[in-house]
Amino acid sequence: MSKLPNGIQRRQIDGEDRLTTRGSPVYGEPTDGEWRAWDPHRSKLGAMIELGMDHGLEGGETVLYLGAASGTTVSHVADFAGPTYAVEFAPRPARELLSAAESRPNLFPLLKDARKPDTYAHVVESGVDAIVQDVATRGQARVALENRRFLADDGRLLLAIKARSEDVTREPANVFANARDELTEDEMGYELIESQRVDDYHTDHLAVVARPK
Ligand SMILES: C[S@@+](CC[C@H](N)C(=O)[O-])C[C@H]1O[C@@H](n2cnc3c(N)ncnc32)[C@H](O)[C@@H]1O
Repeated sequence: MSKLPNGIQRRQIDGEDRLTTRGSPVYGEPTDGEWRAWDPHRSKLGAMIELGMDHGLEGGETVLYLGAASGTTVSHVADFAGPTYAVEFAPRPARELLSAAESRPNLFPLLKDARKPDTYAHVVESGVDAIVQDVATRGQARVALENRRFLADDGRLLLAIKARSEDVTREPANVFANARDELTEDEMGYELIESQRVDDYHTDHLAVVARPK
């Protein structure tokens, strides 16, 4: 079971043992003083941490987050991490992301397409400690490969793959096998540390922890 990073605590909220981070609420989540519950049913990274996956996070790291949407998960990340670059290409959720960033000076929203890293390479520092990816789009493995250039040699990829975003007609197990192959076969790809389905929290999703080859 992986240790919790600094800045994440388990606390009793409404009689339940919850993962929490310290920051202003973003999505109506229950709080205990300054601590806000992190809902693993609304967050793939939350589910990965809840399940004790080998996330390698310690707190304070530099993070590139791909698919930030309205900031549900990336706001928790910014609560315990250092500089957190949040890429989202849809303007509507990005507006809410901007509000989440108002009280978080280390959270940098970028209205960009994660398939085109050249468009934000001038902003995102290289050698980030972690890439967290949750883009519901076709070609999720390709997105991870294209953004690998930002990751430090000893950094980690924490990736959620949604089977239905690749192909609604295919068996999720086949989609996941293909994605794992694609991530690992490229010389400039990844080495898998751990992967598991997180169906208890997110149906037909695979969570992957990997490091650059
Ligand atoms: C499942 S939602 C993300 C939820 C978010 N990660 C969270 O936990 O709070 C997927 C998001 O990926 C975004 N997305 C899909 N393709 C993208 C791309 N190519 N570049 C940037 N964002 C993308 C969608 O607009 C959507 O907001």
